[in-house]
Amino acid sequence: MRKDKFTLIILFVGFAVLFLEARYYHSGILDKKPVAWVPTVLLPLLAVACLFGLSKASALRKTAIALFVIGAAAGLVGTYFHTDGFKAERFSMLMGKKQEKEDRAQQNGREDQDRRSENQERHSEDRDQGTGEGENKDEDPPPPLVALSVTGLTLLGLVTVWPMKQG
Ligand code: HEM
Repeated sequence: MRKDKFTLIILFVGFAVLFLEARYYHSGILDKKPVAWVPTVLLPLLAVACLFGLSKASALRKTAIALFVIGAAAGLVGTYFHTDGFKAERFSMLMGKKQEKEDRAQQNGREDQDRRSENQERHSEDRDQGTGEGENKDEDPPPPLVALSVTGLTLLGLVTVWPMKQG
């Protein structure tokens, strides 16, 4: 029992820290992609779920279970968005291809830079008008697997709070 409490306290800190990171990283895309609000709203709720899990009140523990189930699903949904629908090329950064991309970018850097400078004014006008054409296509995609950490932590919470017979 003591171990369960300790686990829930560690998970509480984990969700709180993950919330701070997710809030920061999603802050630039909340307007364009409202689904990115999900981790910002859900992660603090999952931290609260850990506190509910510490309680002896059955209603609070059931609420914690429900929130952990929702969190597990949200992590999978997040992975879907982070990988643009589980596209194989989004996982390429895990194969060490980012370095290759950077090498190529360095080789072509000057050419690209010149071209960008020429078009900078036009692109910033596009951005102001919200056409999206000014988006930098060389930008890194979101990290593919980070949302799965939400699923992992919630499953751990679920196992901890789930009523199980001793022995
Ligand atoms: C519940 C899970 C999550 C959902 C539903 C979610 C949703 C999204 C969405 C919709 C995007 C935009 C994807 C795109 O532009 O193609 C995004 C980007 C991103 N997410 Fe998440 N996310 C989740 C969890 C996380 C977590 C836990 C982190 C890290 C702490 C994270 C870090 C990022 C980063 C760095 C980006 C790229 C932001 C940018 O391009 O400015 N996400 N996420």
